[in-house]
Amino acid sequence: MIFLQYRIAEQKIKGIITKNKSTTILQDVVDVLYENFEKYNWVGIYLVKGDVLVLGPWKGKQATEHIKIPIEKGVCGSAAQSGKTEVVDKVSKDSRYLSCFLSTRSEIVVPIKKKNIVIGEIDIDSDFPAAFDNNDAVFLEKIADMLRQHI
Ligand code: SME
Repeated sequence: MIFLQYRIAEQKIKGIITKNKSTTILQDVVDVLYENFEKYNWVGIYLVKGDVLVLGPWKGKQATEHIKIPIEKGVCGSAAQSGKTEVVDKVSKDSRYLSCFLSTRSEIVVPIKKKNIVIGEIDIDSDFPAAFDNNDAVFLEKIADMLRQHI
């Protein structure tokens, strides 16, 4: 049952990417991720601009103050530097963590890469502790791969 949720969301996102020629693809994908998973409580896409991550489309109850993150800062910066997915089960225990929302308990950051260069990332905060497992990582890495042509 749980796997069905990922498959349904993946199909919706494939639909957006293949049919939609407009400039709203990134926002539409963010919206699908936010709306289809109860545990995805804030979803954003950061874009790499030089050595800074700049917030693009996002969806959540609140805006974040971290609209620009230097590449050497935060969990987002770590993922951008390593090119690897970062999963933080307990944000309060991670010294890299830049706090955005008091309600956040865990976080996943998935790099979007073109020819092995990080060009952006999907960042998701959850109000649930240890909300992200390998299913989320595999699913979101697939979505990141679909997005790479649209950044
Ligand atoms: N927590 C992130 C900053 C971005 S907010 O979660 C939206 C970090 O540590 O890099």
